[in-house]
Amino acid sequence: MIIVRTIKEMQEAKKGLSGSIGFVPTMGALHQGHLSLIQQAKKENDHLIVSIFVNPTQFLEGEDLDAYPRREEADIKICEVAGVDIVFMPAIGQMYEKDELCIGAPAIRGYILEGEKRPGHFDGMLQVVMKLLNLSGATRAYFGKKDAQQLVLIAQMVKNYFMDVQIIPCEIVRDEKGLALSSRNVYLSAEEKERALCLSRALKRASKMVMAGELAVSVIRKEMRTVLDEADKVEYVAIVDRAFNALEEIEIGNTIILVAAWVGKPRLIDNIWI
Ligand code: PAJ
Repeated sequence: MIIVRTIKEMQEAKKGLSGSIGFVPTMGALHQGHLSLIQQAKKENDHLIVSIFVNPTQFLEGEDLDAYPRREEADIKICEVAGVDIVFMPAIGQMYEKDELCIGAPAIRGYILEGEKRPGHFDGMLQVVMKLLNLSGATRAYFGKKDAQQLVLIAQMVKNYFMDVQIIPCEIVRDEKGLALSSRNVYLSAEEKERALCLSRALKRASKMVMAGELAVSVIRKEMRTVLDEADKVEYVAIVDRAFNALEEIEIGNTIILVAAWVGKPRLIDNIWI
């Protein structure tokens, strides 16, 4: 495994690769969720690149950029054990210059839900993902359904910009109690971790209602709100189709149910694809 820290080295390293390249972009503090993407990419490609970069342009003023967990040494070990070929860990100065050309998230899809609560977040996310996809020369790039809106926007960017890479959606990894794994879970106390389970519980309740034949979005959202009572603050409960258009009725096979809520310090998100 090689660790690459500059753009030049990355471009050189890529030249030596023949065959398909699997790529998993991350912000580090790797957990089992990241690892599942890495393992899938390993299986499906001849070469495997992982990037670890806490991207400043996708954090808003006052968000946890400085406090975001950084665990470089542990992350490198995890990549080594997982059989990664190249770990790309650039410094900020490598990735950005002043007064850059920027791409923006689409007006509606990029500025609802996560994009409404974190305006500009998806612009910065798409900017870095565009750079990373170009640099890696990936055949396939792997993204978790955990960040559903991110995943859909990246797929749209690749389509709109005719980028030659396949975007592979990966299942959400949860702990034994159902909490979706996240690097931000380290902020949760034991008591908060218990309460944080109300997100996945609300999603499970929704999926049970659908299985029992309830398709009305308003009824399901109302029921989910009662389950989410244990959170400190609920930001949204949304039911949309796979292109993030609002729905009034669940469309089986084309629906995503999403929640965002504060429990203690972190803001947590979770979703289920129906
Ligand atoms: P990060 O939060 O580190 O996540 C990296 C990838 O891991 C994303 O595709 C995310 O959806 C996936 N992931 C996180 N938790 C997961 C879980 N519990 N189950 C399955 N997949 C999970 O998302 C980002 O970084 C950044 O926005 C990035 C795309 C790297 C751009 O900076």
